Amino acid sequence: MTDRYAVVGNPIAHSKSPQIHAAFAQETGHDLRYERLLAPLDGFVETVVRFQHEGGRGLNVTVPFKLEAFALAAEHSPRAERAGACNTLAWRGTHWFGDNTDGPGLVRDLDVNLGVALAGRDILVLGAGGAARGILAPLLAAAPRSLTLSNRTVDKAEGLARAFAALGPIRALAPSALGGERFDLVLNATSSSLAGDAGGRAPWPDGIFAAVALAYDLMYGSEPTAFERWAHASGAARVSDGFGMLLEQAAESFLIWRGVRPDTAPVYALLRGNRPGVRSVRMP
Ligand code: ATR
Repeated sequence: MTDRYAVVGNPIAHSKSPQIHAAFAQETGHDLRYERLLAPLDGFVETVVRFQHEGGRGLNVTVPFKLEAFALAAEHSPRAERAGACNTLAWRGTHWFGDNTDGPGLVRDLDVNLGVALAGRDILVLGAGGAARGILAPLLAAAPRSLTLSNRTVDKAEGLARAFAALGPIRALAPSALGGERFDLVLNATSSSLAGDAGGRAPWPDGIFAAVALAYDLMYGSEPTAFERWAHASGAARVSDGFGMLLEQAAESFLIWRGVRPDTAPVYALLRGNRPGVRSVRMP
């Protein structure tokens, strides 16, 4: 019988994961089916249980269920423990094993695909929600010189900085305190499109991009995101969206389920081949 996998979230219609995993399956010669599962906002656990009873072997979990996925899993990887959230579930015969491949996916995209070594760099992370929390431990493990967290609601950034202080040089700064600071890398981990947000303005000064080698949005779209446009207009040398991170976290999930890590480069070309420009210098 063909093994079944799915991505579960709400909303889920626009997820690219089915195309990605179909491409990985073809590349590796694995026989599997990967679908989209829309779970009701109050029905995550029921949806997962039903899927498993119907033969489901593994799940990717997306917004807003990553914390519930962590609670559902009876066994966790150390990196899921550190993130306190799961984006990957694997059925272990009697229980769900929960992992989190988001952070490793980001670090691999930065390091391997974009050629940005993180060791010794000064990194700024915008946002202090679930997406930010999931990337902090892998970023700190890459030995940056400093990791600064900045969030509209300052005490959330301060809380995260305290929670991760044992893992490396992390601090929180209010958006208004960033003037005069310089960073090698700025990562957007907010859930907002920032500059394009209903005509509103991001709380951060444009100056954060002055000396930046790479501005990276964890989000992605068919067009450059508002963050990408803002960073480019404000002087970032290179900008990228998070499509590479999406691919790398998917490859890491595939490895957990199937024991083999697919090569992401051909899949990037396949799914993005018709886009203008090169990802790392995509802005006009
Ligand atoms: P996620 O799991 O996607 O991180 P979340 O936990 O709701 O979602 O966190 C959303 C993050 O985006 C927060 O850091 C939030 O800032 P606040 O903590 O101040 O709410 C940030 N965010 C959302 N909309 C924003 C906006 N318009 N400007 C700046 N930050 C925004």
